Amino acid sequence: MSGRTALVSGGNRGIGLAVARALHADGDSVAVTCRSAPPPDDDFLAVKCDVTSTGSVDDAVTEVEERLGPVQVLVANAGITRDALLVRMGEEDFLDVLDTNLTGAVRLVRRTLRGMIRRRHGRIVLISSSSALSGSPGQTNYAAAKAGMVGFARSLARELGPRDITVNVVTPGWIDTDMTAALPGEARDQAAATVPLGRFGSPDEVAAAVRFLAGRQAGYITGAVVPVDGGIGMGH
Ligand SMILES: NC(=O)c1ccc[n+]([C@@H]2O[C@H](COP(=O)([O-])OP(=O)(O)OC[C@H]3O[C@@H](n4cnc5c(N)ncnc54)[C@H](OP(=O)(O)O)[C@@H]3O)[C@@H](O)[C@H]2O)c1
Repeated sequence: MSGRTALVSGGNRGIGLAVARALHADGDSVAVTCRSAPPPDDDFLAVKCDVTSTGSVDDAVTEVEERLGPVQVLVANAGITRDALLVRMGEEDFLDVLDTNLTGAVRLVRRTLRGMIRRRHGRIVLISSSSALSGSPGQTNYAAAKAGMVGFARSLARELGPRDITVNVVTPGWIDTDMTAALPGEARDQAAATVPLGRFGSPDEVAAAVRFLAGRQAGYITGAVVPVDGGIGMGH
């Protein structure tokens, strides 16, 4: 399965960058999308893409197809948070988070799917969150979007099973990236104390699960939700 074309959204930093590096190490030709800065590595094709725009997703995937060939591995990783208690959350913050995290992933899947169907092979991995399953105060928008990814993935897994296309979800817990860097020290310590393993995870630890699900050995796994959360969800 080496030599495939893999596309990772938001692969310029954080979890997406770790995933891109892991897939590259497995021999895949890797493209990453970025809105802002390109990735620090020269090993990937970097394409500009805003996942909230269908036209931007279309242009980005077209560029990847032209330069690397049809996408066989898609990792929908781009995501944002706009945390606030629901009583104080503006509708725009609710909708923006859904549009980026959930509909952004759907746009990428829809654009890459036809090529996978034609080749009767594909691997789709969606990066959700442990808060999709456990809930998280201040994150009604984010948890709704991330839970939506689970229902989307499981329905799609049933649609695509006969074509040898697997669709799985990874639910990270607290991971050390820019997304969690804004947490003040005390809040960070409190968060780590709720994790059975007692610490934040690393992007590489999430990437290891994605790499497995994208690989040959996961060929009989689809519709799964795989936690990488230090035990917060106890397997859920
Ligand atoms: N860190 C955690 O604790 C944690 C836990 C659970 C789940 N996750 C999920 O894991 C994924 C990666 O998170 P991270 O921690 O690595 O976050 P991060 O460091 O903040 O990176 C977010 C990535 O998403 C991209 N992105 C955001 N909005 C986008 C848009 N509209 N179009 C295209 N790209 C966009 C960013 O691109 P730019 O650089 O261009 O802004 C960046 O590459 C997210 O889906 C997040 O929800 C993270």
